[in-house]
Amino acid sequence: AERAFVDALMAKMTLAEKLGQLNQPPAVGNNTGPAAMTGSEDQVRRGEIGSWLGTNGAELTCRLQRIAVEESRLGIPLLYAYDVIHGMRTVFPVPLGEASSFDPDEARNAARVAAVEATAHGVHWTYAPMADISRDPRWGRVVEGAGEDPFLGSAFAAARVQGFQGEDLAAPDTLLATAKHFVGYGAAEGGRDYNIAEIPERTLHEVYLPPFKAAVDAGAQSIMAAFNEVAGVPMHAHKPLIQDLLRGQWGWDGLLVSDYTGVLELVEHGVAADREAAGRLGLAAGVDVDMVSNIYLEDMPAAVAAGRVPMAEVDASVRRVLNAKFRLGLFEDPYRYCKDPARQAAMTLTPEHRAAARRMAQKSMVLLENEGDVLPLSKSLGTLAVIGPLADEPWAMLGNWVGIGRPEDAVTPLDALRASVGDRTKLLVARGAAINDEDTSGFDDAVRAARRADAVVMFLGEHPEMSAEANNRTSLDLPGVQEQLALAVAATGKPVVVVLLNGRPLSTGALQGKVPAVLEAWFPGVEGGNAIVDVLFGDVAPSGKLPVTVPRNVGQVPIYHAHRNTGRPPAKDNKYTSKYIDVPWTPLYPFGHGLSYTTFRHGAPRVASATLAAGDYAQEVSVEVTNTGSRAGTEVVQLYLRDDTASVTRPVRELRGFQRVELQPGESKTVRFTLGEDDLALYDAQMRRVVEPGTFTVFTGGDSLAAQSATFEVVAR
Ligand code: IFM
Repeated sequence: AERAFVDALMAKMTLAEKLGQLNQPPAVGNNTGPAAMTGSEDQVRRGEIGSWLGTNGAELTCRLQRIAVEESRLGIPLLYAYDVIHGMRTVFPVPLGEASSFDPDEARNAARVAAVEATAHGVHWTYAPMADISRDPRWGRVVEGAGEDPFLGSAFAAARVQGFQGEDLAAPDTLLATAKHFVGYGAAEGGRDYNIAEIPERTLHEVYLPPFKAAVDAGAQSIMAAFNEVAGVPMHAHKPLIQDLLRGQWGWDGLLVSDYTGVLELVEHGVAADREAAGRLGLAAGVDVDMVSNIYLEDMPAAVAAGRVPMAEVDASVRRVLNAKFRLGLFEDPYRYCKDPARQAAMTLTPEHRAAARRMAQKSMVLLENEGDVLPLSKSLGTLAVIGPLADEPWAMLGNWVGIGRPEDAVTPLDALRASVGDRTKLLVARGAAINDEDTSGFDDAVRAARRADAVVMFLGEHPEMSAEANNRTSLDLPGVQEQLALAVAATGKPVVVVLLNGRPLSTGALQGKVPAVLEAWFPGVEGGNAIVDVLFGDVAPSGKLPVTVPRNVGQVPIYHAHRNTGRPPAKDNKYTSKYIDVPWTPLYPFGHGLSYTTFRHGAPRVASATLAAGDYAQEVSVEVTNTGSRAGTEVVQLYLRDDTASVTRPVRELRGFQRVELQPGESKTVRFTLGEDDLALYDAQMRRVVEPGTFTVFTGGDSLAAQSATFEVVAR
């Protein structure tokens, strides 16, 4: 039905109308690039806009839709696209925080909530999830992804796609998900956004492509091209990766959108002499929708008429835009998403949505340190000092890319502390310092408050504008004088807890041994304050794990768990091995690290088969985990695999499974993992995907240093 419908419609379309479908202007105020061109109602009437970036709200989207449907010649409905990244109005933790939960089901639900709210605001198409792997925390957009690991990143990319798109794309509460940015954007050289990416073919296939493949397999209807180049070819002109791999080998038939002025930027990249050449390259590469450049609309008519652009290329892209509209059910009912304004109010920031955001935030927090079991705190402490620039800043709860989220919706830690302790504990509040200046004049107040208190909680970190797009840093330290503030407060000898609110891993090694408890809360969303307090007082035990390696200092970047061994792996007693002379080679915190309020014993993994015959790769691994402490807790049991000897070098270990397990004190559970061919396979020197005979070692435990292991062998038949 889709094919016949779209064929019939395309048969009626002029070239101008076709190019109009490929054109996407931004709404007023939605500018993240050099051009500030915005769309107009007259353009809608003339059929010059196929989709609109950033336009939302039931009333506005319906009004413009009516113009498209009733006043343009062919009445083709508009598509409304918006960056709904971690919530529309109910803001969830930033994606890096969500990934710390190691709970893709919870992330699926978060995306579902976002979809319900966004669609109630007339939005059809979100520019999420970001499926970029990043191993460089200087890059501001590390906050928008699932961290450094392709296995974890794939699980989250797929779950988020499923959450946004639901079971039925034509339902009024589901929207098109966009896996972005295809591909290699997270490898921006020097961590500088938009920079070139130097990615060897092997790394591209092993690290950067898998989350996109997972998104495609999960049914992602849209993909966004990346700003960067890969191997000398900008992604907006990358035929081999878009046409041959994505559409060809992977068989993906969805809608590929440029990034903001991405087509125009082919001129700056130096691969197109002018706008027309840029448009030609974009269309040939299979970039269907031109976001903001206006090149397809303005420069392609002459190019097509003169035969410099094959009509077939235009048609292929138009078909994909119309397919998307068809799949959303817009031809059946163009007002499906916006016609019920009551839905917008009823479905926004509901108590259920807030509860989901709180649950996600609780799960996203990572307890980095807890010396002497300072946490959880008692609710009847006497006096608690609350110190730091982020204790009561609603916007610091939300992070960046917050849809239509509002600071006034957010619960700050101070709000939540006040509500939680009531009269039982006196709170002494001192700011101490700003986020990012050199002024230490507030230290005295802060230290005085700490001295008078029984315990201290400090809220330190980054401003939301220090991560996300274009917000790159060359330092991973706590900005400004916050580290000195923490040390000055800790010098009082009081039990101090530092809660970090930030969008990238921070090198907080200076606090180690001085500040007994450190809780990484990321930017935890609209319910962040409540979730933090739930964890501080032990109503909820922390269960998050780091989805990124935390370096000791920025000079260790790139540092990630699945590195290769080299011929001279670091060794303490041998100078001539791969390490530094000024800091240890190990990270501050390894990937997968995260403490609880209890302790867990991980038994040795057991493999079901000591040998696997080539071709039959199913392997079951089981491991017994016991809660050895006195409180209930959830452990994320992690499975890593190493191909011990292969024809090409392999990572020292790769994440191949994880499961959250809830355990009561003294309780044991057996956790089972199933490995298959893809888990064992590698790309050989000719880039063929194969499983090679030989031994494999399985490691299981509570972080990427997991020491318990078992081996099995793959034998040739
Ligand atoms: O979706 C974003 C993209 O991630 C970065 N550039 C702007 C786009 C649209 O807002």
